[in-house]
Amino acid sequence: MQSDDRVALRATEGLVGRVVVTGAAGMLGTAVIDRLADQHEVIATDLAAGYRRKGVRWSLFDLCDRDALSRFLLAERPDLVVHTAALVDVDLCEQNPSAAERLHVDTTDVISRTLAGWNGSLIYISTDSVFDGSKDGPYDEGDHPAPPNTYARTKLRGEAACLTLRRATVLRTNIFGWSRAERMSFAEWVLRGLVERSALGMFSDVQYTPIYVTQLAEIIESVWQQGVHGLYHAAGLTCLSKYEFAMLVASVFRLSADNVTARSVDDAGLTANRPKNMALRSARLSSALGRAMPPAIDGIQLMRRQYDDGWVARVKGRAVAPGYRFWEVA
Ligand SMILES: NC(=O)c1ccc[n+]([C@@H]2O[C@H](COP(=O)([O-])OP(=O)(O)OC[C@H]3O[C@@H](n4cnc5c(N)ncnc54)[C@H](OP(=O)(O)O)[C@@H]3O)[C@@H](O)[C@H]2O)c1
Repeated sequence: MQSDDRVALRATEGLVGRVVVTGAAGMLGTAVIDRLADQHEVIATDLAAGYRRKGVRWSLFDLCDRDALSRFLLAERPDLVVHTAALVDVDLCEQNPSAAERLHVDTTDVISRTLAGWNGSLIYISTDSVFDGSKDGPYDEGDHPAPPNTYARTKLRGEAACLTLRRATVLRTNIFGWSRAERMSFAEWVLRGLVERSALGMFSDVQYTPIYVTQLAEIIESVWQQGVHGLYHAAGLTCLSKYEFAMLVASVFRLSADNVTARSVDDAGLTANRPKNMALRSARLSSALGRAMPPAIDGIQLMRRQYDDGWVARVKGRAVAPGYRFWEVA
């Protein structure tokens, strides 16, 4: 189909724009395609297909294949690319820095150069871990990044590749949510530990500002619609420790927290360095969008509602057991 025909078809279907979402089968990607598919033509891309819903078309290939990526973009000519694909396993990035470099830097470079051909927009999802944690208090956009590991270093270089484009937005964040795949997210790991009452040792010396993926997906849509470009922090309003996060999950899901204990990240024996202060201040984005960032408790409540109303089962593509035993089929 020719590009003009596509625009005409979109208009007759009442769709606003054409959006490519990378990493669309991942935790954030799933929330983004679900949010955008009602109003936009969404092309989801990943290594394997994720949530299949009306309004989402899947295209499966390895983004690190530069030729395949630019061919795909030239054929689709999206108005917007939301680039969420990443190697989020920090220790794996340490062991395989060239894979991290290819996915975080090279793909972003290809996407921004290709989008420049038709003045397209790019929203690149970055991370709070570009900072080394030595600041006392939450980080602003003006603070100097000092990435402590390969994951963070390559994500930061991806930011620079993104910002070469005129209509580019970098959103640094820290997210939580339901994963679509059987691989468990951090919040799911906490919830499972609470439901099963297994010993949960949570870091009380790592502070962060997590945001729920569905809420970040809404913010991503607003960023695009309101034409907000540049570097922004897009995190939650509440600064809390991982231990406090687990206590909040227990309280919202009405589960006992007797099995949760506080521990130090220093005793965890992790391969890659992790900063202790990962808190971001998102005041700049709040004022650009004219809305407050959500507190952690709102996101956890929404996470619970999405289980209760069947959204989690739909996204996971299977029935889930009652009592928040999400890893079991009902
Ligand atoms: N999770 C967090 O706590 C966190 C914190 C701060 C920032 N972020 C950022 O938020 C974004 C989304 O994170 P997430 O937790 O949603 O990640 P995720 O669930 O791991 O999703 C990333 C997706 O990208 C896919 N992918 C990896 N390599 C690919 C390749 N070569 N070609 C095509 N697709 C590929 C992954 O597929 P496979 O699963 O098959 O590898 C996965 O489906 C990332 O940019 C991340 O850096 C995340």
